[in-house]
Amino acid sequence: MAATLETTVTRIKFDNPYLLGSGPPGTNAKVIAKSFDLGWGGVVGKTISLDSTKVVNTAPRYGKLKDPVKTDVVVGFENIELISDRPYATWLDEFRQLKKQYPHKVLIASVMEEYRKEAWQQIIREVQETGVDGFELNLSCPHGLPERKMGMAMGEDPSICEEVVGWVKEVAKIPVWAKMTPNVGDPKVPAKAAMKAGADGISTINTILSVIGVDLRTLRPMPTVEGHAVPGGYSGQAVRPIALRHVMEIARAIPGVPISGMGGIDTGFDAAQFIALGSHTVQVCTGAMLQGYEVISKLKDELLKVLVDHKFERLEELRGKALPYFTTHFDLVERQRAAKAARTGGNKDAETWKGEIKSETDALTATR
Ligand SMILES: Cc1cc2nc3c(=O)[nH]c(=O)nc-3n(C[C@H](O)[C@H](O)[C@H](O)COP(=O)(O)O)c2cc1C
Repeated sequence: MAATLETTVTRIKFDNPYLLGSGPPGTNAKVIAKSFDLGWGGVVGKTISLDSTKVVNTAPRYGKLKDPVKTDVVVGFENIELISDRPYATWLDEFRQLKKQYPHKVLIASVMEEYRKEAWQQIIREVQETGVDGFELNLSCPHGLPERKMGMAMGEDPSICEEVVGWVKEVAKIPVWAKMTPNVGDPKVPAKAAMKAGADGISTINTILSVIGVDLRTLRPMPTVEGHAVPGGYSGQAVRPIALRHVMEIARAIPGVPISGMGGIDTGFDAAQFIALGSHTVQVCTGAMLQGYEVISKLKDELLKVLVDHKFERLEELRGKALPYFTTHFDLVERQRAAKAARTGGNKDAETWKGEIKSETDALTATR
C-alpha cells in the first residue's frame, strides 16, 4: 500500500493533517473556499464572537523580525491583531454556505466569548447548527482580548479553563478542541484542566507575548500606533522550538491526547517533527501568510517523503515516535557513563588494574 496522509482525529476525517490556523488565512468564505480547492485538509476560521462591534483593530498591527544576513527571510512575526471584526450573522451564513459547497472538507469554527455561560452556550449552539465539523475554543489570544478577560485570561487560569470547557461541552454535539496559550510556566496544567472538563482535543500553541523591537530613531516600541504600543503575539519559525516543547510536554502528560500542533511550521519536515512529538493534526498560520496558500502542495509532498523514507504507510506510525526518548538530565548522565564504560571495556582487567590496588579492589567490592 502506498503511504497516505489521510487521518481521522476526534471523529473528523481529514484528507491530510494540514489545517490553516486561525488568523488571516481563514478570514472569510472566499479565501476558505480557495484553500479547500488548493488541497488543505481543513481550515480553522478566524476567531469569532457574538458582538463584533466590540472588536476594533489598529494599523500597523504586524511586525517582522528579519534574518540579519538574508534580509528577505522573516524569522519571526508579531501581531497585535484582534479576533474577527466581521458580523456574527455574516459568519453564520458563510459557514452554512461553505459546508453546503464543501461537505467533505473540514471546517472548524474558532470561537471566543466573555466569561458568561449564556454567551458561550449561545455561540456554540448557533454555530454548530451551520454544520461546521468542530470547534476550537480560543482560550489563548494574548493581546487586546485579555483586557476584556477573554482569550489568554481564561487559558492561563486552569480553573476558568475547566469551567468554560465544561459550559461548552454541556451543549456541543461536535468535537471541541481547546486552544492553549504558551504564556504559562507549565503547559500541562491548563491542558489537563481542559481535558478533565471533557475537551476532545488540544490545539497548541497560540502566539507568544513579545515586543518585536524599539525604533532607535524615535525610541518608540513597535509596532508603533500613534507613538505607542502594546506587547503582541509572536509566531513564525522562531517560535517552533518552543511550540515543539509544548506539544511534547502535553503529549507525554496526557498519553494519546489528540493534539493539533502549530507554531512556525513552514515545511513538511517541520510538520513531521510536530507529529513525531505527538501531534495528530498540524496548523499553519504565519507560514501561509508568508508563503501563500499554494504552499500546501509542497507541505504534503515533504511530509509524504518523511513517511516513505521511514517505510511508514500512515501518519499514525510516525505519531509520537520521538516521545519515549525524553528523559531527565540525571538519566542522560547515567546513560553517558554507561556508554563510556561499554566503549572502554569497563570490567576488563587491563582497564581495571592500574597500580592503585587498594582503591581498585574497593571499586570492585559490593557495598552490602
Ligand atoms: C496575524 C495573526 C492573527 C491571528 N489571529 C488568531 C485568531 O484570531 N485566533 C486564534 O486562535 N489564533 C490566532 N492567531 C494565532 C495562530 O493561529 C497560531 O496559533 C500562531 O500564530 C502560531 O502558529 P504559526 O507560527 O503557524 O502562525 C493569529 C496569528 C497571526 C500571525
